[in-house]
Amino acid sequence: MSSSDQVLIFDTTLRDGEQSPGISLNASEKLEIAQQLARLGVDVIEAGFPIASPGDFEAVQTIAQQVEGPIICGLARAQPADIARAGEALADAARPRIHTFISTSDIHIEHQMRNTRDDVLKGTEAAVSQAKAIVDDVQFSPMDATRSDPAFTAKVLQIAIECGATTINIPDTVGYATPDEYGRFLTTLYELTPGLRDVVVSVHCHDDLGLAVANSLAGVIAGARQVEGAINGIGERAGNTSLEEFVMLLDTRADALGLHTKVVTTEIARTSRMISRLTGYPVQPNKAIVGRNAFSHESGIHQDGVLKNPSTFEIMDPRKVGLDDSNQIVLGKLSGRAALRDALEKMGYQLSGDQLVAAFKRFKVIADRKKQVTAMDLEALVTDDLRTIGGASFELVDFEVQSTSAEDPHSTVTITLPDGTERKGDGTGDGTVDSVFAAINQAAGVEARLREYRVEAVSGGQDSLGHVSVVVELGDVGDALRSQIPGVIAGGRTIGQGNAVDTDVISASAQAYLRGLAAALRAAEVGQEATAEPMR
Ligand code: KIV
Ligand code: ZN
Repeated sequence: MSSSDQVLIFDTTLRDGEQSPGISLNASEKLEIAQQLARLGVDVIEAGFPIASPGDFEAVQTIAQQVEGPIICGLARAQPADIARAGEALADAARPRIHTFISTSDIHIEHQMRNTRDDVLKGTEAAVSQAKAIVDDVQFSPMDATRSDPAFTAKVLQIAIECGATTINIPDTVGYATPDEYGRFLTTLYELTPGLRDVVVSVHCHDDLGLAVANSLAGVIAGARQVEGAINGIGERAGNTSLEEFVMLLDTRADALGLHTKVVTTEIARTSRMISRLTGYPVQPNKAIVGRNAFSHESGIHQDGVLKNPSTFEIMDPRKVGLDDSNQIVLGKLSGRAALRDALEKMGYQLSGDQLVAAFKRFKVIADRKKQVTAMDLEALVTDDLRTIGGASFELVDFEVQSTSAEDPHSTVTITLPDGTERKGDGTGDGTVDSVFAAINQAAGVEARLREYRVEAVSGGQDSLGHVSVVVELGDVGDALRSQIPGVIAGGRTIGQGNAVDTDVISASAQAYLRGLAAALRAAEVGQEATAEPMR
């Protein structure tokens, strides 16, 4: 067991989290998230899986070049090409880490990799040695560890340590372990692996049975000193350990656990909102720490108690997770560009040049419609602008709702295609928003259908900005568009997620739909050029 009382926080929002179904972040969005994770004070950012696609490579490289503070990590299977590619992507990082993994469970060895335990031992030795020749900081994971034979896993870990791994991560890949089993599994590995006490032991738990945070806690009690997870608990299937929950658990129960992290907890709420907005994954209202009800009291008895003394029904001060900051900054109609820049700077966004001009333009439109623009509104605007950067994109020039009658809603739109050509379309549908989507399909020359549609208010009040999130399924792509995006195959089916923020919900819906279409087209292209399937 480690004697240190600091637990390192390894954030995999941009890797395991980003591989959640339907999430597709562009490079600017990933960079903005990584900058926010640095402000949050995580120790390690797993920025992506560089061999998975050119987009993943570029994102890891950009984050490695621009984000200061945390260690920047790239994932690689235990294969020479993966490790070399991760090394290239991380070349400019001040503190690079390569994270390589191989499955150790017999289920995976027989049915997924179709090789032998001996191949796993050799693969581990080759992979860790290759990574160590590129960077000093090497992390190794035996995938599906909790369903693996402990004696065999220990043998693999000892090889990884002897070849130079400095962090050993023990994944509960399928979220199957119970806290007691997971803690005992780690204790057994400590007993069987002579070198394990000389490296940092890490835990990586999936939430299939709702036990990811509990298992991570069992892991640190057994001696682990790095916890992996994602903000808002995103990740494939039921997701990963929610980092904000784990961090606040150590903070709030320091009396019982005697452990701490160096996370700046007052940045938690903002990080959670940014990730929810950019990924389009909403946070459930009753989610611990970051749900909108996490600190509100409904029953009269509770409200009465909290008014008399918050400690009656509150175990945490909401200010500790940054909840009071969200509306502190307020700008009005008459605020100028300098006031906007200062407000954004206070929130940690450094905007200048064209970006500041664009943000100011949008701010003015919104300030004209809303009496007061709050920090939450500004956050929503800045993150919304990031969505327009990079890749094939469509612009909404204008739209008109011709008829809102229940029998025959009818709209027209004008959009620009990725090459700048202006196209018009009109459509009817099951309602006003549906008719706008039909008009967009006609203008873009695509067959696409809406799979999901959600509207949320950014902040309270009747004049709140609306955040629209859509999932679009792309079918046939017409000639006009196909000639502009040659990688897209006709007739393929891909899905894309789009988000947009506006005071007008129909306008936000149209923009979100166009972004969803662009993301689906990108996914169709990525399908062509991907060199490896993402794996968890
Ligand atoms: O869940 C898992 O096993 C992983 C590994 C790549 C660490 O994500
Ligand atoms: Zn995982």
